Amino acid sequence: MTEEIVKSALSKVMYPGFTKDIVTFGFVKDINIDATAVSFTVDITSSAPEVAQQIKEEATEALKSVGATTVNCHIQAPKMPKESSSHGKNIAPQVKNFLMVSSGKGGVGKSTTSVNIAIALAAQGLKVGLLDADIYGPNVPRMMGVADIKPEVNGNKVLPIKAYGIEMMSMGSLMEEGQSLIWRGAMIMKAIEQFLRDILWSELDCLVIDMPPGTGDAQLTLAQSVPVTAGLTVTTPQSVSLDDSRRSLDMFKKLNIPIAGIVENMSGFIAPDTGVEYDIFGKGTSAPMAKEFNTEIIAEIPIEPAVRTGGDEGKPVTFFAPTSESAKRFATAAASIWATIEEINANGGVDNQSVQPTTPPGVSACSTGGSSSSSTQGGECGCS
Ligand SMILES: Nc1ncnc2c1ncn2[C@@H]1O[C@H](COP(=O)(O)OP(=O)(O)OP(=O)(O)O)[C@@H](O)[C@H]1O
Ligand SMILES: [Mg+2]
Repeated sequence: MTEEIVKSALSKVMYPGFTKDIVTFGFVKDINIDATAVSFTVDITSSAPEVAQQIKEEATEALKSVGATTVNCHIQAPKMPKESSSHGKNIAPQVKNFLMVSSGKGGVGKSTTSVNIAIALAAQGLKVGLLDADIYGPNVPRMMGVADIKPEVNGNKVLPIKAYGIEMMSMGSLMEEGQSLIWRGAMIMKAIEQFLRDILWSELDCLVIDMPPGTGDAQLTLAQSVPVTAGLTVTTPQSVSLDDSRRSLDMFKKLNIPIAGIVENMSGFIAPDTGVEYDIFGKGTSAPMAKEFNTEIIAEIPIEPAVRTGGDEGKPVTFFAPTSESAKRFATAAASIWATIEEINANGGVDNQSVQPTTPPGVSACSTGGSSSSSTQGGECGCS
């Protein structure tokens, strides 16, 4: 018995519900062969017991038919997701919790924070997805090191791309590199809905959603499509950024989204040669704003060159430099966010019923009017 024979036999075992086999999916691991005794692990994405059972039976049969006498198939399945107690409309019901990462202003580090928080949550043993909802400027594929990878399509659904222990999907993974998109508000809404409905997300404990900057159609559509468990605001310490962040926090309030905290990014600078921390834009300046919105600064992330190179090279600090100051602070922030999410669920969860559109069917509800792209272009939007 050789590894080739084992793999070839197992490649006849289809993943239940799919047209692909467990070897092609990359689920088969740790193959051990001792004469005619074979043991291996199948690392699957479903926690349904019938899926595990079917794979076990078919794999055992396939291997016995090529001469194996003893087959030890260990199925590694995710734990049953912790129940969310949220209510209202949810077009991605297999996802238990949704974390919306927002900022009032562009370029403050939302994508960097989303990537590192998602990886840090997964490092805590949670099943995590990362949705890049920045339709115009999708940066997550590069930051996750999967810029060249195209997702697999299964029927009319798309499989998320896996990297660093999490699932990921982005408009950047669906279109050609460097292409620019001109989207109208209604198209953004459709895209956000499809990202939630037509991507084959596993049964996730938490989907982290990296939003485009500002408070527009994407944010509103997300809040209407799924009960967003918590919102995270990313800001930089300068006053101009704080003004915009206040709008982001106010949006969470208006959409009835509990606030999981503020990440103050680019808060100080850590010199790579000496490790000394310098104050550049100020530090801790978001504290009064946090108090105003009854929340906390859950991390002050310094400007650290490794954070930028990690983003550019697709090697997030949380994964590649877990002992760096930024990675440690992202990990602490992730733990705090999860504690908040558990507390929100323990207290009855969230409900997005109150933010459902009141406009007639086929007409989109505009967020605040004036600032959204659909309202400037008119058309399908009800408030042009
Ligand atoms: N703490 C940090 N230290 C060093 N560089 C950082 C830090 N945070 C972010 N950056 C870098 O700053 C740039 C902007 O960050 P990022 O893309 O995460 O911001 P964003 O808020 O998502 O931007 P956009 O609004 O355009 O989506 C990136 O090059 C990123 O690597
Ligand atoms: Mg971004």
